[in-house]
Amino acid sequence: MDNLITIDGPGGSGKGTVAKLLAAKLGWNILDSGALYRLIALISENIKETDPDSIGIELKDKNIFFKLIGDQYHLFFDGKDVTDTIRREEIGIKASDLAHNQNIRDLIKDTQRSFYDPNTGLIADGRDMGSVVFPEAKIKIYLDASIEERAKRRQIQLKEKGMEVNMRNLISSLEDRDLKDKNRDVSPLLIPEGAKVIDSTNLSIDEVLNKIMDLV
Ligand code: DC
Repeated sequence: MDNLITIDGPGGSGKGTVAKLLAAKLGWNILDSGALYRLIALISENIKETDPDSIGIELKDKNIFFKLIGDQYHLFFDGKDVTDTIRREEIGIKASDLAHNQNIRDLIKDTQRSFYDPNTGLIADGRDMGSVVFPEAKIKIYLDASIEERAKRRQIQLKEKGMEVNMRNLISSLEDRDLKDKNRDVSPLLIPEGAKVIDSTNLSIDEVLNKIMDLV
């Protein structure tokens, strides 16, 4: 698959930031697959059902797209901007639950693949983009960073939103999440076959971008 870059990696590795800057640099579209799992969680909460069939009916024929507004990609579903709603903590928890369900993952796979158009180009950001959703991608990145660095980045992000979080708590919650992501039965987080591993612990964003642009 040409004009497609998959970026997988653990939470806090910088996937979202790198995906956004790459999309801007190349003029390609973006697929934030985590946002789609959050959307599924939102739909499930609205209809008070968790079975894939009911969720599938709600998803059917609805327009879903990402749009850059200011410096942030917004997710639109059926004409509504759902960006703020899907970022709510309880939606994140529900998304994580639903992401363990193979039927939900199967349901969402076609939607994810429909974001790819070789003429427009796509940066696909997630946990299983290079391994399950787009195994044919020619450029696959696995972005990693030490747990201390990832916690530090998360702390800065939260601080910008006015939240103070203890470093030790952040590290332990990232460790928990890593363990769950890497050991789950369905689509565990792993280095996809053929992926280029980039450890961003001691790299600036520009250095990471340059490494990826070298592959493009
Ligand atoms: O990256 P995020 O926090 O927005 O992702 C929301 C949830 O979806 C999170 O629990 C991880 C899960 N997810 C997944 O299982 N596979 C993906 N490709 C993307 C996200």
